[in-house]
Amino acid sequence: MTPRETPRTLDHRTAGEAAGGGGGPVPDGVDVEELRALARSLACEAGTLVREGRPERVEVAATKSSAVDPVTAMDRASEELLRARLAVERPDDAILGEEGDDVPGTSGLTWVLDPIDGTVNYLYGVASYAVSVAVVAGPPDPERWTALAGCVHSVVDGRTWTAALGGGAERDGRALHVSRPASLAGSLVGTGFGYSAERRAHQAQVLTSVLPRVRDIRRLGAAAIDLCLLAEGALDLYYERGLNPWDVGAGGLVATEAGAWLGGLRGRRASSTMTVAGAGPVVDELVHLLEAADADGDGRAAPR
Ligand code: IPD
Repeated sequence: MTPRETPRTLDHRTAGEAAGGGGGPVPDGVDVEELRALARSLACEAGTLVREGRPERVEVAATKSSAVDPVTAMDRASEELLRARLAVERPDDAILGEEGDDVPGTSGLTWVLDPIDGTVNYLYGVASYAVSVAVVAGPPDPERWTALAGCVHSVVDGRTWTAALGGGAERDGRALHVSRPASLAGSLVGTGFGYSAERRAHQAQVLTSVLPRVRDIRRLGAAAIDLCLLAEGALDLYYERGLNPWDVGAGGLVATEAGAWLGGLRGRRASSTMTVAGAGPVVDELVHLLEAADADGDGRAAPR
């Protein structure tokens, strides 16, 4: 039996705490419920701007990592609003945002901002896009941070998910709990694809290993919402390669506070290399399947 074939059992509670929200304890003097309330207020206010300011025809203002990775004027306006409010309310905290320069801080906390997660959906008028606001302690890197609080606000329908480390996850006042599917074959799996053709070719190859083994796949187009759907049991499992910190900050904490394990492959924490989320033995099975498919590599190590 090769190392890849070795059956493993994850301690979901411990692994989830370590990989998702709790890289460490809540720092002294930090009130995570206060941070949750602020994250919610920021995300909802930016969400109102995005909703009410959406023009009839949305234009691409620029592209980023590839020609199909767009930025719109509203991505920038939403992030400017978030940054302006944080400058007033949390002047000592750092900021890591999708659309602007990093702002250094002195408090040890960083706000991780996605002004529109699901920009392509926003561009086309597909209803799954959100404002995502998280606050983390430690380095603003999903492999090393401790996520403290976060909010994902779905712009079109107003669904609002929040979480605070150790304080649970909720949507609009209702506590959230992940599903515990009985089998991988019966699991609905969310995923997403990157913006480069080469990355997509490999992701398509990985999908050929995953799709025959699960109930079905959903590619909804906003990772933050996907992770919140996982938290409320509307998806059973989720995986994606290539997520940025702002894609996973708030949604990842919502998922782990709802009982999910969130991590990477080969014992790593969730990172841009791979993010997997779910609960129960089926998430072990998915991790094992993704490792065998070399989902965090270039495909050369995967069996043909
Ligand atoms: C993207 C969305 C998408 C995911 C991509 C992300 P953006 O974020 O979350 O679902 O598949 O990996 O980059 O670019 O719309 O903020």
